[in-house]
Amino acid sequence: MFTPHFSSAAMFDRKGLMPVVNADRADKLGNPIRHPAAKAPRIFADSATRSEIEPLFRANIINGITTNPSLLKKAGAKSWDQAKGIMKDLCTLLRPHPVSLELTELVEEDMVRQASELSELGDNSVIKVPIGGYRAVNAGADPFTGIKVIRRLWERGIKVNTTLIFNTTQALWAANAGATYVSPFLGRLADYGYKQDKPERKPGNSLYWVEDHKNTKGDQALHNSEYVASGGALKDAGARLIFEIATVFANYQITTEILAASFRNQVQLTECLLAGADILTVPASILATVADHPLSDEGMKAFAEDAKAFGK
Ligand code: E4P
Repeated sequence: MFTPHFSSAAMFDRKGLMPVVNADRADKLGNPIRHPAAKAPRIFADSATRSEIEPLFRANIINGITTNPSLLKKAGAKSWDQAKGIMKDLCTLLRPHPVSLELTELVEEDMVRQASELSELGDNSVIKVPIGGYRAVNAGADPFTGIKVIRRLWERGIKVNTTLIFNTTQALWAANAGATYVSPFLGRLADYGYKQDKPERKPGNSLYWVEDHKNTKGDQALHNSEYVASGGALKDAGARLIFEIATVFANYQITTEILAASFRNQVQLTECLLAGADILTVPASILATVADHPLSDEGMKAFAEDAKAFGK
């Protein structure tokens, strides 16, 4: 399991700059009582399915949602109008908490226009902009499309969640462009690593170990041997990415929020909290189990049994 070697003073200073998540309440005399978890990380549901989201929201487990085209398809959307209907409904349900709505257009002008369209679905909408990958879909695309769109939305006062972040510099460029959130995908990084890695390589100092660093064969192979500058085990790659971004953002007092995404299991939740994530966006199937533990089950059974002695 990922264990950070340190938490820098800069990290604590940055937390002081971040928004209060759980509001204070007043006592009978009107004096404010500070919420004990005022600066807690926020937890979002990574879902577009209302039946999954609503019980989590009503139970105060979540205070935000992230959606994407795959989640909308899973929720039953078969057309753009249906997708917009679902997104609007989720914005209304969660108001005033943030709901991330992802752009499907791929060209700068179309993306900016679509961002305005999605912004109108709710005043709590956040526009999700992929950081890169544009040339993977269209070889002739501008590689800086995402960064340019983030900047233009920042200038218009539209909040952006930059998605598909897999390294620290992508996160830095998104923040520089004006993103409110960055979403590092720790689960997909781990998935990729387990499929592609040559785990016996010695620790390196970059995201990938490059088989042929001059690319003389023209087919340079990348292997995730030791992923991030801080080095460490393959299984911790995703959490170390969060830790790296948290450290860099703290070093430069960047208040773009680190929204850890793409969770595969419960342990990764703890790892991301240790690593310094500001927000976790978690599938409903994992959130459903956060109050559970086998020893809690065992303990409850024993307490319930013993309570029978009181005649209740
Ligand atoms: C986050 O915003 C993404 O929608 C999500 O976490 C992606 O997760 P996946 O890798 O499970 O698709």
